[in-house]
Amino acid sequence: MKSKVTSVILACGMAVPPKIVTNHDLEKLVETSDKWIVERTGIKERHLLENGEVISSYAIKASKEAIERAGIKPEEIDLIICATLTPDYLMPSLAILIQRELGANKAGAFDLSATCSGFLYALSLADQYVKSNPERKVLVVGAEALSRKTNWQDRTTCVLFGDGAGAVVVTGDENGERGIVDFILGADGSNFHLLTLKGGGSAFPPFDERLPKEEYYIRMQGREVFKIATRAMEKVALDLLQRNNLKPEDIDIIIPHQANLRIIEYLRERLNLPMEKVFVNIDRYGNTSAASIPIAIYEAEREGKLQRDNLLLMVAFGGGFTFAGVLMRW
Ligand code: COA
Repeated sequence: MKSKVTSVILACGMAVPPKIVTNHDLEKLVETSDKWIVERTGIKERHLLENGEVISSYAIKASKEAIERAGIKPEEIDLIICATLTPDYLMPSLAILIQRELGANKAGAFDLSATCSGFLYALSLADQYVKSNPERKVLVVGAEALSRKTNWQDRTTCVLFGDGAGAVVVTGDENGERGIVDFILGADGSNFHLLTLKGGGSAFPPFDERLPKEEYYIRMQGREVFKIATRAMEKVALDLLQRNNLKPEDIDIIIPHQANLRIIEYLRERLNLPMEKVFVNIDRYGNTSAASIPIAIYEAEREGKLQRDNLLLMVAFGGGFTFAGVLMRW
């Protein structure tokens, strides 16, 4: 009988810019306070690119670490998928810059745009790609420089975001005991206007004077987004559990997208899980969009909170709106 192939993560890597900006630093830029930011979001500090730095440097660093720890060579990689909203250039893609620098000569490479759910979208594609040929190796990267799309005069958004990158190497496992069990990808464009970045695309090319300047940055109606985020995260988590005949208590660890500590706490409460089962690092990184889950996986593993054979649930939510969940046996 043919054994079941699953896709496993061989190793992870991460990299963030060294520059740390605290809430107190932001108090000098906009009318805000450390107290407000901590209470409303859970964020204490974030890593941001310096002027002149590029996010590809960190995406490449995270990728090199993941490849090295996986014990493979860049030439063995078949595909590079980079989830990002903020590539260095619109062309070439960030995935191509990674491919070039790694010397991954055999790999196809493309960027994927699914906002903060992008890494889980990319991981799900990698899962399907290696299932048809378990020998294949896919580098999945989440890399984001939201600071470059932030209006630093808008206190409702500028306190939220951070820059960084995370990467994982995915391959097939013919034992079928560990790896990705199931995933859900979703989208709902009916409320897209609540979270936008309109300027710089083909509707309003750079410097198009028809569009107000603020629209060249991320704009968000936070309170409304919050409501949609909490509902979507809960639904994805419960749907994934239900269709795999699992209960919340079967989960060893949840790694949610790190957008707001209150959204994470809402999810924890709805699933009735203890805080030890929910990984949180938003206090140190803010919302790094597509990079948030791979950075969190890396840290959860390093801190011993994510261990071999653990049942791991990852859930994400982002502008569009997009949502995603991946259930895996680590
Ligand atoms: N510092 C101080 N006060 C601030 C502030 C800041 N940085 N940002 C907003 N405020 C003020 C508002 O102006 C408002 O004042 P008002 O009552 O006088 O009008 C008050 O704080 C409350 O604003 P509100 O937007 O209702 O706060 P909130 O509790 O909803 O928190 C967010 C705001 C953005 C933190 C929260 O809505 C959120 O996290 N939303 C989801 C964001 C998200 O997940 N986005 C990314 C999707 S991946």
